[in-house]
Amino acid sequence: MRYPEHVIEQIREQSDIVSIISEYTALNKRGGSYVGLCPFHNEKTPSFSVSEEKQLYYCFGCGAGGNVITFLMQKENMNFIEAIKYLAERENIKLDETYLTDEELESNRKRGQLLEILKESARYFHFSLRAPENGEALSYLTSRGLSLETIKQFGLGYAPHQFNGLYEYLKQKGYKDELLLESGLFLQGKQSQTMIYDRFSGRVIYPIFDLSKKVIAFGGRVLDGSLPKYLNSPENMLFNKSRTLYGMHLAKNSGAPYFILVEGYMDVIAMHQAGFTQTVASLGTAFTPGHAKLLKRHTGEVVILYDSDNAGQKAALRAIPILRNEGIKVKVLLLEEGKDPDEYLKTHGYDAMKALLEGAPPDIWFQIRTIEKKYQLEIPEEKIKFLQEASIVLAETSSSIEQAIYLKEVSKAYQIDEEAFKAEMNRHYQRGMRKVAMKSEVKSPLQKKQLFNNEVIFLATLYHFPNLTKHVLSYLKPEMFEEGLLFDLAKAILESIEQGTEIDMTYFTTHYADVDEQNIISHVLIHKDQRYEDTTILKKMITENVKRLNKVYIEKRLKETKDINEVQILLFQKKELDKLNIDYING
Ligand code: GTP
Ligand code: MN
Repeated sequence: MRYPEHVIEQIREQSDIVSIISEYTALNKRGGSYVGLCPFHNEKTPSFSVSEEKQLYYCFGCGAGGNVITFLMQKENMNFIEAIKYLAERENIKLDETYLTDEELESNRKRGQLLEILKESARYFHFSLRAPENGEALSYLTSRGLSLETIKQFGLGYAPHQFNGLYEYLKQKGYKDELLLESGLFLQGKQSQTMIYDRFSGRVIYPIFDLSKKVIAFGGRVLDGSLPKYLNSPENMLFNKSRTLYGMHLAKNSGAPYFILVEGYMDVIAMHQAGFTQTVASLGTAFTPGHAKLLKRHTGEVVILYDSDNAGQKAALRAIPILRNEGIKVKVLLLEEGKDPDEYLKTHGYDAMKALLEGAPPDIWFQIRTIEKKYQLEIPEEKIKFLQEASIVLAETSSSIEQAIYLKEVSKAYQIDEEAFKAEMNRHYQRGMRKVAMKSEVKSPLQKKQLFNNEVIFLATLYHFPNLTKHVLSYLKPEMFEEGLLFDLAKAILESIEQGTEIDMTYFTTHYADVDEQNIISHVLIHKDQRYEDTTILKKMITENVKRLNKVYIEKRLKETKDINEVQILLFQKKELDKLNIDYING
């Protein structure tokens, strides 16, 4: 960690953890904290809690917890520096570059240069598209119905049919080969490494933008029927396919109640041109959880609008659970055979498309209809198979309200007995629940890392039940806890109980940047275990732990110390300890 503590603290303090987490899950105020469904695991009743005062979150279900920085690290896959930068940008806090390590500085510099190269190239391509000798490219785009305004808005371009025109152009601007190769715009000769040539030549160019509207990659399409139809930039430090959605830089500002997910560049552009500015695509690569997370930041509902061919249907079926997993409501619209959105708009226009989108069936209906197509329902055995498969779809939805609704609808639509259908679903449901439970166990940080050992649980108990723990303060020392975080927590908690003061949260956020450490901190300071409301259980728990910690500590000190006085004190304490039980429980 290279940013000084006061900078990190300023960022953490100014960032509103409630509003940031609210972008991922709905939070309701309850008492002193906010409560909602956990964004880290699937659940039906809220066990996720955010403390505005402590600036921490914690899930009583899966044990996920931490501060606003670790939230972004876990939820957005950012590293510490990225999370700090993201928050700083959000809060308009200027970060001073001098805090960065040499490596980070170098990486920032390179990033800046790559962005420059891509910007220069985008300009070069766009300019080439307007050059008279490349009229063929421009007329290709206009013949596909794109207006000049749209072409400009999406920054479309053309890579002239040359061996290395762009390379020469950038070379002459002073960029080094190594950097140029890293930009993804060029290829290197197999025989002669010094031969560098343009990757995209002879193609129409679709720049790909990041959320701040910077060009981070390109797609290039042939003008004729030759193959491959599209080329995309390879991934590099700027471009991560599974986290980029084409069109998102515009769609994110659409303010639309739902987003539209299509298959390709042309579909996005045609949809935007028609007025559906909430349209994005996952560029040839399969739709990933990273894409779903990106969407979730901007919308709660997505209509999948893929080609109606087999591949499109399959892709839609794969995308559904990924979107659902992020808590996004999904609908699926398949256009009549053979048509993609681009073609459909051309023949039917905005209103027809809008009507279709608004009437798009929910994902569950889409899944059931897809299953239906495999069977001939007039044949009883086939109908049974269909119903069995359909019941699995219902069993796999995590919401029991949805299950109830669809049980009714589906039974009615296919004229089957609702009770029989329900029984079939429940059979799968129980199996499904086990699957879900296993999955969330794997994901749970609590299970995975065994972070919450006895000491952590004991510290949480001390902190949340100060009235009883007051009586054992004299038996406890921070030294009895593991060096580092647990020692610091113990020290702060013991002091705060003794003096009746609050814990200095600043210290803990600035000294412990690690996700696991923040997880422990939020567990200790937020997880109040209701079992210990029962004083008998609480007393037992405290006594056992005080004894255990003292025994270990006394043994250890006895081995280490050469001070005869200390030995005597330790031996005395050891004796006293046996009495603790009686004293304490009676007292
Ligand atoms: P048009 O054919 O111009 O209408 O483009 P489209 O966007 O409708 O393309 P299509 O539906 O064939 O494919 C959908 C998306 O898949 C494209 O936009 C590309 O991102 C990707 N894609 C299609 N063909 C290829 C290919 O040959 N290579 C790569 N890498 N991606 C492709
Ligand atoms: Mn198309």
